[in-house]
Amino acid sequence: MQHSLYDLTGRVAVVTGGSGALGSACCRGLVEAGASVVILARNKQRVEDAARALEEAGAAAAAGIPADVLEKDQLAAARDLVLKRFGRVDILVNAAGGNIKSATLKPGDSIFNLPETAFRQVFDLNLIGTVLPVQIFGEVMGEARKRAGQAGESAPCAGSIVNISSMAAARALTRVVGYSAAKASVENFTRWMAVELARLFGDGLRVNAIAPGFFIGEQNRNLLLAEDGSLTERGRQIIDHTPMGRFGEVDELAGTLVWLCSDAARFVTGVVVPVDGGFGAFSGV
Ligand SMILES: NC(=O)c1ccc[n+]([C@@H]2O[C@H](COP(=O)([O-])OP(=O)(O)OC[C@H]3O[C@@H](n4cnc5c(N)ncnc54)[C@H](OP(=O)(O)O)[C@@H]3O)[C@@H](O)[C@H]2O)c1
Repeated sequence: MQHSLYDLTGRVAVVTGGSGALGSACCRGLVEAGASVVILARNKQRVEDAARALEEAGAAAAAGIPADVLEKDQLAAARDLVLKRFGRVDILVNAAGGNIKSATLKPGDSIFNLPETAFRQVFDLNLIGTVLPVQIFGEVMGEARKRAGQAGESAPCAGSIVNISSMAAARALTRVVGYSAAKASVENFTRWMAVELARLFGDGLRVNAIAPGFFIGEQNRNLLLAEDGSLTERGRQIIDHTPMGRFGEVDELAGTLVWLCSDAARFVTGVVVPVDGGFGAFSGV
């Protein structure tokens, strides 16, 4: 078989939030490209069920490990389990995250009364919940490549970290204050970390992000769709500002993710790729 630039056969991917709406689509894309996938999230039953579904879908190997992305000890224990079972980590996708209701202004709420605790909570989940997995897994990903280089072994594939941002990082979405600030910092961290890891490991470890537009998930379903499936007022506003005129399908993230993780993107680091049907490009006029 001809080697494809996009082939991930033999690579091991860790996907935080891999049991969620977007994360599970990311896992399916990685599996289709040939990777083995380890899902990390808090709910044990859900990560195990999600891993089983990937095996049934033909994954070379899949596993689910319960871990909270805000708990460094749990991440370190998960990393040790991954290394014991798979021997390596090539890809890290940080898909755990999302908005928190209390950090969003309800109609009529004042920004001046937004609870500080809610703002901190959404910041923690999205920013700290990306920083800690990058520290725990990024270190072993980089060091393994450095060791191989020092031992004169043929270079292993470059490692790839992909963070999940949001259109909310670049465009002000009314009411969504804490989440937007948190995702903007995820994008800044993506660029900073890309520079730092290139300084440490050359082309051996890259960091990029995907900024999805609007996809129907558990967190936003009630905000965007009424019970009968029609658009809410908010849903209508979003569609009106999306030149393609529809929400995204979660599986439409896979192509960008596989590209960023593969040799096809081997000179790409520190970028944020929108997958948004044109939302970010549109002025609204
Ligand atoms: N849906 C959209 O339209 C959209 C658009 C732009 C960006 N995004 C971003 O895409 C990512 C995924 O969103 P989604 O819609 O797929 O969300 P989702 O369906 O609610 O899934 C969230 C996932 O994260 C896990 N998670 C939450 N808190 C965690 C923690 N502390 N530690 C470990 N895992 C945790 C959840 O599992 P447990 O609860 O079991 O831990 C679940 O697997 C998020 O970063 C979100 O901000 C989504």
